[in-house]
Amino acid sequence: MKSIASAPGKIILFGEHFVVYGMKAVLCSIDKRITATSQLIDERVIRIRSSLGESEINMDSSNNLEKVQQKFMKPFFYIAQKAIKENSAKNGIELVLESEIPQGVGLGSSSAACVAATASVNGLFYKLSKNDVMKIAVQAERTIFEQNSGADSSVSTFGGLVSYDLKKGFEDIPSRNDLSFIISNSAQVHNTQDVVRQVRNFKEKNDDLFNKLCKLEMNIVDNAMSSLKENDLNKLGSLMLENHDVLKQIGVSTEKIDLLVQEAKKTSYGAKITGAGGGGCIISLVDDSNSENTLNNLRKTSDCFVTKIDYSGLRYS
Ligand code: MEV
Repeated sequence: MKSIASAPGKIILFGEHFVVYGMKAVLCSIDKRITATSQLIDERVIRIRSSLGESEINMDSSNNLEKVQQKFMKPFFYIAQKAIKENSAKNGIELVLESEIPQGVGLGSSSAACVAATASVNGLFYKLSKNDVMKIAVQAERTIFEQNSGADSSVSTFGGLVSYDLKKGFEDIPSRNDLSFIISNSAQVHNTQDVVRQVRNFKEKNDDLFNKLCKLEMNIVDNAMSSLKENDLNKLGSLMLENHDVLKQIGVSTEKIDLLVQEAKKTSYGAKITGAGGGGCIISLVDDSNSENTLNNLRKTSDCFVTKIDYSGLRYS
């Protein structure tokens, strides 16, 4: 029997990085997914194949997690090993991950992979609740990225447009706006953990400035929540540009990213980095009136595509 589950990637509309320090972020899942397919196998091994990094591991299921050589495979080994232990399984597990989400560019591919893998692997024994999937996915991701806020895995599990903070977790944004974004990829691959560490260094060296920026960010997020209620695209767009400016000040933008934002600004409602930055993607808020122009404009210098909010989150098939 095969157990198949898929989970969406995400974009952060407001609040990345500051969410790590307890502030609220606004994010949504997108219509690009990772599919995880698992099955029990006779050999007592964990075999993982992933299109995320064209990689494969085949290790004894009792091995220590630290023995997994490719770092990005650790969370999946953790998920499979945990399921084997908790279900006292005598078999091994084969897990295959296939992704539509570009990797390492701020679109939540690692979290979506952890969510899909958790649901698929545990589905071999019994179907976990979405809440349990989310908790295990966050633990799995923390095997390689301890400071991860859990925001990405939450939105990937539950889908939709949500706010998230460390204390309250995620909350649905009831206006269920039908927003469209253009995601434009700078092709500068980043490592989220490194960029988060870089921001921590910045904070330690510039405590006063960082506190000032936290207040600014809090204000942006509060205004964004009201603008979402009113579905005010002009206001949302200008708040995105303000947020980009704050992200620039904490040092996570790049020359290429700033150029893309400048270009996007000409035709869309507003644009900003999404996710960790240090490269990665920008998002531009559009609707039918300006989507085509923005797309044509950004296509000159980057790979881009239009995306809409995915309201389904984790899916079993
Ligand atoms: C990464 O998509 C978002 C960050 O805020 C890190 C996190 O929330 O774990 C940069």
